[in-house]
Amino acid sequence: MANPKIAIIVSSTRPTRFADIPTAWIKAKAEARGDVDVEVVDLRDYVMPFFAEVASNAWAPTQDPTAVKWQKKIAEFDGYIFVLAEYNRSITGALKNALDQANVEWNKKPMGAVGYGSTGATNAIGHLQNIAVELQMVSVRNNVRIGGSDFFKVHPGFGGTGNLADIEAGIAPAAAGLLDDIVWWAKATKAARG
Ligand SMILES: Cc1cc2nc3c(=O)[nH]c(=O)nc-3n(C[C@H](O)[C@H](O)[C@H](O)COP(=O)(O)O)c2cc1C
Repeated sequence: MANPKIAIIVSSTRPTRFADIPTAWIKAKAEARGDVDVEVVDLRDYVMPFFAEVASNAWAPTQDPTAVKWQKKIAEFDGYIFVLAEYNRSITGALKNALDQANVEWNKKPMGAVGYGSTGATNAIGHLQNIAVELQMVSVRNNVRIGGSDFFKVHPGFGGTGNLADIEAGIAPAAAGLLDDIVWWAKATKAARG
């Protein structure tokens, strides 16, 4: 079977985002395995209105051209890793809107997260997993949570180094678990969809 194709979806769009650092890190981890093909999908490249369709595309064709482009991109993948900022104890507004702007493209595929924040994005990951149930995604057990003193050690906005190698020992096992889970479920669900 060909390698599963996994999107690494960047959920923060703000100019000074931390997101690029964990995105590059998890991309490199995935590429080092050789059993998965990954592509970064950046919400900055899909500037959509707040959801204004008559219904989700499970029930009515989408009208907004950027949302259609977004759906086509999401449809290309066998699974998703969200690089997840936590805003006010949840996911970013940009990501919630982007999740709503597709439906059938997410169905019956695995998802996981590389979350970060003072509490390791625990709340954002939980909210995302709940949304994923309705979108018929498989939520994998292992997720990366960059939190506490580790988060502040590497976050340049808080005087940190900007280098996840400095906290590698704490987060590499979770990344391996996340990628193992995503690859297993991507293969299983791809075969089942086929
Ligand atoms: C609007 C807003 C709300 C935030 N709320 C939380 C929060 O609830 N929990 C937390 O740990 N960090 C919170 N933070 C801090 C973020 O974890 C930190 O700014 C992080 O860098 C955001 O990701 P980004 O830089 O990729 O956008 C918040 C930041 C912003 C801008």
